[in-house]
Amino acid sequence: MLSDTSLPVITATLPVVGANIKEIAQRFYEHMFAEHPELLDGVFNRGNQADGRQQQALAGSIAAFATSLVEKPDELPDHLLSRVSHKHVSLGLRPDQYQIVHDHFMWAIGDVLGDAVTDDVAAAWDEVYWIMANVLINKERGLYGAVKLSPETIWRTWRVVERIQETDDVVTFVVERTDERDVKPSLPGQYVTLKALMPDGVHQPRQYSLTKADDGEHRQFSVKRVHGLKTPDGEVSNLLHSQFEVGDEVVLSAPFGDVVLEYTDRPVVLASAGIGVTPMAGMLSHLVQAKSQRTVRFWHADNAADTFALRQQIEEDLAKLPDASMTAWFADPAEPTQMADGELVGFMDISAVELPVDAAYYLCGPLVFMQAVRSSLIAAGVPAKDIQYEVFGPDLWLADFT
Ligand code: HEM
Repeated sequence: MLSDTSLPVITATLPVVGANIKEIAQRFYEHMFAEHPELLDGVFNRGNQADGRQQQALAGSIAAFATSLVEKPDELPDHLLSRVSHKHVSLGLRPDQYQIVHDHFMWAIGDVLGDAVTDDVAAAWDEVYWIMANVLINKERGLYGAVKLSPETIWRTWRVVERIQETDDVVTFVVERTDERDVKPSLPGQYVTLKALMPDGVHQPRQYSLTKADDGEHRQFSVKRVHGLKTPDGEVSNLLHSQFEVGDEVVLSAPFGDVVLEYTDRPVVLASAGIGVTPMAGMLSHLVQAKSQRTVRFWHADNAADTFALRQQIEEDLAKLPDASMTAWFADPAEPTQMADGELVGFMDISAVELPVDAAYYLCGPLVFMQAVRSSLIAAGVPAKDIQYEVFGPDLWLADFT
């Protein structure tokens, strides 16, 4: 909880920090990377840096956190902290790096707001930062500890044993371990960070959802090629698509991620759009492996049948469950008049399907898709606590504190 001294200062300065957060974020990163270029080698995703999303996400989350400390002093924004800590450990972050971010964040606040940052203001924001940092450091220590790994040992080399061209833009890679150490089990819905060596000698991390349950030997993940190759966005997916073949080696982190399927008997609805299908395919595969008796509804929206990645695996998995079915929406189908059973034309529309009683919902896809589906579910009476969602890329839904 924020101290009595800092509370009024944060309340008074939040509007000005909020109004300038983009500039603070930009100055913070420039300053930090100038002093710590090593953070651009294997830690930060330079694609996200290039388009400013990550800049906004990290700094925006500090402002969102400050808002929450002011408005709900007894509650921590758990959802935000949990998401961030999983992302951090999947990148092998260390506690000592929090001092670096602190120093440059505080410098950027001073640089942008100038004389408005008196000693009191600086002290209050310092307190916000360390409350948040300490919660994250503790959570991250717990996450490393739970899998008996450290920032250095989360990484492991795997060898590609199969490459499946799912659609024009999506390839699934199956990789196998290259040593005899045990494979850390994944929870349904988790992702790994892949660290790729780029042609300029710099490592670049990217997160990919695991699309199949564990077998103790392999991992499976699917990669959508980001079009346009407007470097550096898309550089890793294009490299994997064009150069990663059977026999090649990749470095992956242990699995992390907090949007995971809970083990209950309740019906479950897995709703995705586009490449958002990947964590859903992973969850479904886990349900099959657990010989689940749950009612499962798989809803998927895509452009057309030929852009629907992992469809064959999903259909095979649904057929192995006692009460499971799929509804697919195609926005631009090749033959709109000849849709198969369970296929509809247009965007996902939940009024076209029956909502199972007391179901748990998991959403993944573009933000607009998830916001629309979540709103219609809430309007249909589904409690907010029963809807979880996974955002690919920096989560600006969370960081949006305005
Ligand atoms: C990602 C917050 C400290 C490195 C993120 C994200 C947030 C965040 C909100 C985006 C998560 C998402 O939605 O995907 C914070 C806060 C910090 C902090 C509030 C301090 C209190 C650090 C430190 C480092 C770091 C100390 C290491 C130097 C990263 C990296 C990512 C990230 C590499 C992923 C970036 C990307 O993929 O572009 N952090 N972070 N963070 N953070 Fe932090």
